[in-house]
Amino acid sequence: MTDAHPGPLPRTDRPTWPEGLPGIAFGADHNPEQWDESVWLEDVRLMREAGVTMVSVGIFSWALLEPRPGEIDLGWLDRVVDLLHAHGIAVDLATPTAAPPAWLYAAHPEAWVVDRAGVRLGPGSRGIMCPSSPAYAEAATRITRALAERYAAHPAVRMWHVHNEYGAPVHECHCATSQVAFRDWLRERHGDLDTLNAAWGTAFWGQRHGTWEEVRTPAAAASVVNPAQQLDFARFCDDELRACFVRERDLLHAAGDAVGRPLPVTTNFMATSCAHVDYWAWAREVDVVANDHYLTGERRDAHVLLAMDADLTRSLARGRPWILMEHSTSAVNWQPRNIAKRPGEMARGSLSHLGRGADGILFFQWRASRSGAEKFHSAMLPHGGTATRGWREVVALGRAVGRLAEVAGSRTVARVALLWDWESCWAQDLEWRPSTDLSHRERTEAFYSALWAAGVTVDFAHPGDDLAAYDLVVAPQLYLVTAASAASLDAYVRGGGTLLVSFFSGVVDEHDAVHPEGLSGPLGTTLGLQVEEFHPLRADESVALASGLRGDVWSEHVVVGEDTEVLDTFADGPVAGLPALTRRRLGGGQAWYVATRVDGPALATLVDRVCEAAGVERLDLPAGLEVVTRTSEAGAAYVVALNHADTPAALPAHVTGLDLLTGARVEPGAHLDAGAAAVVRLD
Ligand code: GLA
Repeated sequence: MTDAHPGPLPRTDRPTWPEGLPGIAFGADHNPEQWDESVWLEDVRLMREAGVTMVSVGIFSWALLEPRPGEIDLGWLDRVVDLLHAHGIAVDLATPTAAPPAWLYAAHPEAWVVDRAGVRLGPGSRGIMCPSSPAYAEAATRITRALAERYAAHPAVRMWHVHNEYGAPVHECHCATSQVAFRDWLRERHGDLDTLNAAWGTAFWGQRHGTWEEVRTPAAAASVVNPAQQLDFARFCDDELRACFVRERDLLHAAGDAVGRPLPVTTNFMATSCAHVDYWAWAREVDVVANDHYLTGERRDAHVLLAMDADLTRSLARGRPWILMEHSTSAVNWQPRNIAKRPGEMARGSLSHLGRGADGILFFQWRASRSGAEKFHSAMLPHGGTATRGWREVVALGRAVGRLAEVAGSRTVARVALLWDWESCWAQDLEWRPSTDLSHRERTEAFYSALWAAGVTVDFAHPGDDLAAYDLVVAPQLYLVTAASAASLDAYVRGGGTLLVSFFSGVVDEHDAVHPEGLSGPLGTTLGLQVEEFHPLRADESVALASGLRGDVWSEHVVVGEDTEVLDTFADGPVAGLPALTRRRLGGGQAWYVATRVDGPALATLVDRVCEAAGVERLDLPAGLEVVTRTSEAGAAYVVALNHADTPAALPAHVTGLDLLTGARVEPGAHLDAGAAAVVRLD
């Protein structure tokens, strides 16, 4: 767990890419069970027209594959898989365990998920049943085994897709089975009750547990529930979900081994959008990382958030090629206002994922559904059919992806890392923090966006990782840090790295207890300072810094050590005259600290300054121009350039070569049209 973070290495003893799938994979979730068989042939014909090479099949079809308990009917799936194979389309075959059939709910009411408020979540939608339920496990095993045995040797099937988006829509359960499972998990983690009581600080508010039977999941209570208990419960829930994945994965591996055909097994992540699972741990369990991403249509900087999501996904994959398992051709149906994509926007999004390491570009879903909850969700084949702009853009994108085969396998390399730790987020997001304006997500997006605008490619890393490969590491808000991670960050700085830490970092340990060193914890030792007291600002308040920059949300009383330079101070506000920006040179490196929330141009200035100090190259890009580079083992460099602005943009001078999308040469000083994309193999 936290103290022994072994690094997010994907498994290496299995194939790490769908079998026999060269170039960039292109396709979608394919749900033919929603349609009359007469449509299936037209589907594969149109898939060919669109350049589709792989589809995910069967994700929500448990009730059709096993209409009654134990009665497995794979006839229709045989016909689907055979048809796809006959047309040269690879199958990413799913286990359907994210949509338990109505009969399973009816037979096992004890397996219904119980939420925090005690509400039982029944059938009629989708989602996992209680992740700790033996009945769910038995049924999931039966259908997974049936699929594995039937299709392990089928030549159409090139990869396995377990479940769907673990952690959504269900991530926790408070039923009777979960109470027992949680206690077992706690015994394993803490050993005895005294240790548990100490770790949870139960002396506070008289919460001491005298017997194991008194220990319960942190369900709704009169006031704030013990934060350490909540944090352990978050870990438990994540472990239980992951155990469900591992159980199915192992069945699929075993079936492949039995026929001498090991296929990679994956499950689709939601890198920046699922707060409930620790993908660093999940990434070690999948053979290939796959991710789903949907634009937040309301945000005008949605393309920057897309890039952040893709960069996190690549980091989970440890730089190896990954699969964009789902995104949308246009609008989704589940946001408050579902903004349709404008002409060219789909392609820019898809190519941004590709530029950031995706070797597979797939959508949800192939054909728009006429019925059900998602009928207003866009699809590769829209309700309007082939005589639509949407379809024409899909076909054009399929052709474009087909021209990028040589890019497959190349890597996107970053010299800067942002720290990202789900455990720290779980802890910070608990109740009663010093200010409701504190947001690790806001700070992460802000630092990422400033680096994006400067054309700096960013990896994400766990604070316990070996960071030596990075010139600059930024901790946007690392509330929880273990002693081990703090030691690793200290070693990074002493070894020559530049570390920038933003406020409200290093505060607590793995039990959400304030570190013995005080409010800046062991990070303060590296930074050469102590945070003596927090001074959060009022909602309408901001503070001036001596440099002329302004901060808001936060200020604090920082006391620096002898060898720490004060680079900026608070000019007014609750801590006027005290340090706001500091730097300590330590060993071969330097550790920077910023004690307030700077944003916009002030943050750009700070990021520029620290990049300069770390020797990180920035690009002087016109607003809205995205530039990211992939490099092949043979040394070829591919620049993916995307103009998200409404006016033409001049490409950086170094971008000269062949645009693989158009076949045209890109000469020095070339412009990219408004909304356009280029993938340039550099000279
Ligand atoms: C998720 C799910 C899909 C579908 C899409 C809609 O990613 O995995 O089944 O519901 O959202 O955007």
